Amino acid sequence: MTRLSTSALTLAYEDRTVVHDLDLAVPDSRVTVIVGPNACGKSTTLRALGRLLKPRSGSVLLDGEALTRLPTKKIAQQIGLLPQTPVAPEAITVADLVARGRQPHQHWWQQWSDADERAVTAAMERTDVAALADRSVDELSGGQRQRVWIAMALAQETELLLLDEPTTYLDIAHQVEVLDLVRQLNHDKDRTVVLVLHDLNQAARYADHLVAMKSGRIVAEGPPAEVVTADLVREVFGLDCVVVPDPVTGSPLIVPGAPWQAGARSGAASDSLSRKAAS
Ligand SMILES: Nc1ncnc2c1ncn2[C@@H]1O[C@H](COP(=O)(O)OP(=O)(O)OP(=O)(O)O)[C@@H](O)[C@H]1O
Ligand SMILES: [Mg+2]
Repeated sequence: MTRLSTSALTLAYEDRTVVHDLDLAVPDSRVTVIVGPNACGKSTTLRALGRLLKPRSGSVLLDGEALTRLPTKKIAQQIGLLPQTPVAPEAITVADLVARGRQPHQHWWQQWSDADERAVTAAMERTDVAALADRSVDELSGGQRQRVWIAMALAQETELLLLDEPTTYLDIAHQVEVLDLVRQLNHDKDRTVVLVLHDLNQAARYADHLVAMKSGRIVAEGPPAEVVTADLVREVFGLDCVVVPDPVTGSPLIVPGAPWQAGARSGAASDSLSRKAAS
């Protein structure tokens, strides 16, 4: 049994069910990446894994116990969650926001410890935001703000970390930096990480375990090399593509069919690409 799992998990907003009967075992000490089209239920699932959303039926289990039966503080010491669109308190500074990640570790008799200070400093350094410490979060660029949120989640120092599209707004170098950081955290501390990513190629590079969702259900899961095929991409995203080995890592690399061109037969270029890839 894995530490975090779901059993027949059904999630709904009012009378609309968006996740159906989901059985997911999040592999311990691994990086799991959830992919799938817009609105398929990725964020909803992640929020339920972090107890931001109560199941309509079924359950999320942490060490075999339903999240709904565990005290909030205990969950926050174990599970860190960065939602897709977090909202910062008005006019809060970067250092203060990152420090909020320490709340689950504080006690009424000790508000702030050396361990808290170290965790906050380390998190800000690892996400490259230390120089922004005194700036107001409202005044940052989208990418800077995103890295501050990641710092807050890191400062929480949980064994399980759930990040919803942590690379949104980041330039390509910062995207790679954040994903490398995730791999490092997983490697150094045996952390279990669940990410939602939109970039399938990054997902295939960084995931140990890939989960493909469509319409609130899991369509395929397993190692990226087994899961990512042209058929799966067509089934899940309705996209024609060619899958070739990533020249750097050997993981599956998705190359979409040719862009639209005046007068071209739709899909013609991707046909020729497939023939090349096959030959
Ligand atoms: N707070 C909410 N109230 C009502 N419906 C919601 C709410 N949040 C999400 N939904 C609906 O639930 C469905 C799943 O949304 P979810 O945010 O989980 O999708 P997603 O897979 O994360 O999509 P994206 O890739 O766009 O982030 C969508 O149809 C969405 O409109
Ligand atoms: Mg989402």
